[in-house]
Amino acid sequence: MATLEITGASKRYGGVRALDNAHLKLKSGEVHGLLGPNGSGKSTLNKIISGAVNPDAVTIELDGSPITINRPLDAHKHGIASVYQHLSLVPHLTVEQNLVLGTEAAVAGFLSPRKQRQRIHEILERLEPGLGPRVRPDTKVSRLGPGQRQVIEFGKAWLKAPRFLVLDEATASMHRDQVQLVFDVVREMTAEDIGVVFVSHRMEEVLTLCQRATILRNGLNIDTVELENTTDSELVRLMVGDELAERVGSAHVTNRVEGSTAVLTTENLSAEGISDVSLELHPGEVVGLGGLQGQGQSDLLLSLFGANPATGGRITMDGAPVSLRRPRRSIRAGIALVPGDRGDEGLYAKRSIQENISTVSLAGRSLLRTFLSMGKERSVAREQVKAMSIKIGSLDHPVSSLSGGNQQKVVIAKWLPANPKVVLLDDPTKGVDVGAKAEIYSIVRALTEQGVAVLFNSSDDIELEELADRVLVMYEGNIVDELVGEQITHSALVAAALRVDEDPEEMPA
Ligand SMILES: Nc1ncnc2c1ncn2[C@@H]1O[C@H](COP(=O)(O)OP(=O)(O)OP(=O)(O)O)[C@@H](O)[C@H]1O
Ligand SMILES: [Mg+2]
Repeated sequence: MATLEITGASKRYGGVRALDNAHLKLKSGEVHGLLGPNGSGKSTLNKIISGAVNPDAVTIELDGSPITINRPLDAHKHGIASVYQHLSLVPHLTVEQNLVLGTEAAVAGFLSPRKQRQRIHEILERLEPGLGPRVRPDTKVSRLGPGQRQVIEFGKAWLKAPRFLVLDEATASMHRDQVQLVFDVVREMTAEDIGVVFVSHRMEEVLTLCQRATILRNGLNIDTVELENTTDSELVRLMVGDELAERVGSAHVTNRVEGSTAVLTTENLSAEGISDVSLELHPGEVVGLGGLQGQGQSDLLLSLFGANPATGGRITMDGAPVSLRRPRRSIRAGIALVPGDRGDEGLYAKRSIQENISTVSLAGRSLLRTFLSMGKERSVAREQVKAMSIKIGSLDHPVSSLSGGNQQKVVIAKWLPANPKVVLLDDPTKGVDVGAKAEIYSIVRALTEQGVAVLFNSSDDIELEELADRVLVMYEGNIVDELVGEQITHSALVAAALRVDEDPEEMPA
């Protein structure tokens, strides 16, 4: 049996200890979960394995013999492929061009161009259910949604025919059916003795796919466990510690005000990606957007935020018609958006954490300034960082130095002082750890307690069940179904998304 064993892995970034003498033993044929809160060192360890980060110290052994991995090419040579947390695709190239790009210098790079093309087509055919029939090899990646892009990323790693595969939040924005497809392929890989490292903040994915798991916290190994012999609550405790574990998994509470007039309505709203959408949002309610991802959920949120201008229909706020053709107007009207792709829209990566928290958007900046003096900005930012347990070195460090989940918390934190009436969230807990998820959920509850209406898109059915008072199911830009209260169950969500009457299938066993 082949093994890839990492010991004594240490890495510091200035004053931040990302990894401290960490170890991981990956066996061929297993899926090994790598768990831990945001900023615990998972990606750092993965990047050491794949040659993207040079550690201060590490020993790596392949089948008992030491190997050196100084750069990505070294990892390729040893048959190690990885899917990183942040997407690596080139948006203006096609699906096929992106796949070819990934194979340079990799195992599949040794295939003849004809064989390689054939292999690409085989892989795309197999992944088609996760991409949809309209995605062709010559489709531009810029036209794909985040979940579809992740499916392509997975295909790119698969094409390298690896012996060891690292999946670092490779499923974070995938919908359940895409996850199931990827899991099927991963199981075929492990049957062929490939060893897989799997990182996901969705616990049910880890429990479904992995046999063992190694838990990191603050760059240190906490434990390595056989998942068969570990209860869910033990695992959560290992990950976040006793204190936070108490707060995870609380029951649904509604703050919907019965008989209230709608704070926001749309009537036959049309815009790019949506048509004839009519909905009402009431003070204090949490409305989820369900359905397969990429059915217009993000377009709808962007449209209400004025970033995807309406081409038809009406929007009212507090009963009066409004024109939301620019984000500035939406912000003035009291609408806040937490975008899905924090890289593009949510954060100014090179700016400091402080600036990001105090800046709602360039458009909203002047507005916020009227509420907050400069000195107050800093103390507000400090409070937000504390309230959401954002792990930072200093408020003045760039956002790009934060771990993925901590970046997402900054995006959400920056809206908190703005007193919105309606909060739009686009897949808000993507890549966020269980402890932080609980914190984000309690923020949503605190907002609704103050009468704020929340409309959120989620690729995670469990999140819809836990948070939403109602779920509007979208299909091809329309709202095709509505589930209320007790009706919001996993099987009802799957059935509504796929537009079938019922679906007895659970997550793959
Ligand atoms: N390039 C960098 N510069 C400075 N600090 C960094 C850099 N990369 C990572 N860090 C820090 O190292 C620590 C570990 O980060 P890492 O990305 O490994 O966490 P993670 O476990 O993958 O978290 P997440 O679940 O949020 O993805 C964090 O505190 C992070 O801020
Ligand atoms: Mg990470």
